[in-house]
Amino acid sequence: MRLADRTAFVTGGGRGIGRAVALALAREGARVMVVARTAAEVERVAGEIRAERGDGAAGHATCDVADPESVRAAFAECAKAFGRSPDVLVNNAGIAESAPLAKTSDEMWARHLAVNLSGVFYCTRAALPPMVERGWGRVINIASIAAKTGAPYIAAYSASKHGVLGLTRSAALEVARKGVTVNAVCPGYVETDMTTRAVANITATTGRSTEEALEALRRMSAQHRLVTPEEVAALCLLLASEDGRGITGQAINVDGGTVLF
Ligand code: NAI
Repeated sequence: MRLADRTAFVTGGGRGIGRAVALALAREGARVMVVARTAAEVERVAGEIRAERGDGAAGHATCDVADPESVRAAFAECAKAFGRSPDVLVNNAGIAESAPLAKTSDEMWARHLAVNLSGVFYCTRAALPPMVERGWGRVINIASIAAKTGAPYIAAYSASKHGVLGLTRSAALEVARKGVTVNAVCPGYVETDMTTRAVANITATTGRSTEEALEALRRMSAQHRLVTPEEVAALCLLLASEDGRGITGQAINVDGGTVLF
């Protein structure tokens, strides 16, 4: 039980990578606050955790991470449920839409920055002070390989994720001597709804079949496969644990060798 007596707060915890991270943290003993926009999804994941780990092991809250008031309310829910602010914050909530840059609307641009970047900022700002006071904390930001490299048609997504790395590195240096680490995890294409939507978009815009579109995504990885949510969760677990205490300010790829830096 690498996370016994720890509390965790996982945004976008209702499905996909966030769900896998929430379950993995709970299996190592953490009490997990599952947070996302969709009530039915966070309730379901919190229910899965309680079924495995007991009634006190999970809480849930609906929250829009792009709204600072909503973030404040979700942290208050966490304090109410567990009597303590999170020891581990996983900033996983995110959106991904694609369009040529010239056709990227003001709204699409603003939406990506609000959810993918400001959301990370609001949650980290709420979580850090009690971590520093306690002398122990872990912030894990689920960025993307699009935080390190560009690609056509994802300027808004890629810019928001590049921003997450800047935030990660600066926050890591601010709290480096306080027992708190701040890192980013950069997955390649992962088997989740987000990738299913990307595949649907490729088939709609190129006329390729679903299998052809999937194969194109697999071939972006040197391993010719998609990453699983559980692989991303395993790295989060290492970063959240005591074993990860020397890793801070990093942006670690889980991408099967798609990006080699
Ligand atoms: P998903 O679409 O399956 O799940 C996203 C989760 O975020 C959902 O629970 C959703 O409710 C939540 N969410 C979205 N907007 C929110 C908001 N404003 N406030 C609160 N919650 C919100 O996506 P997936 O694949 O699990 O992605 C999770 C993270 O991983 C995202 O940050 C994404 O950018 C990142 N990522 C995903 C990759 C992939 O191939 N699926 C690759 C690299 C990074």
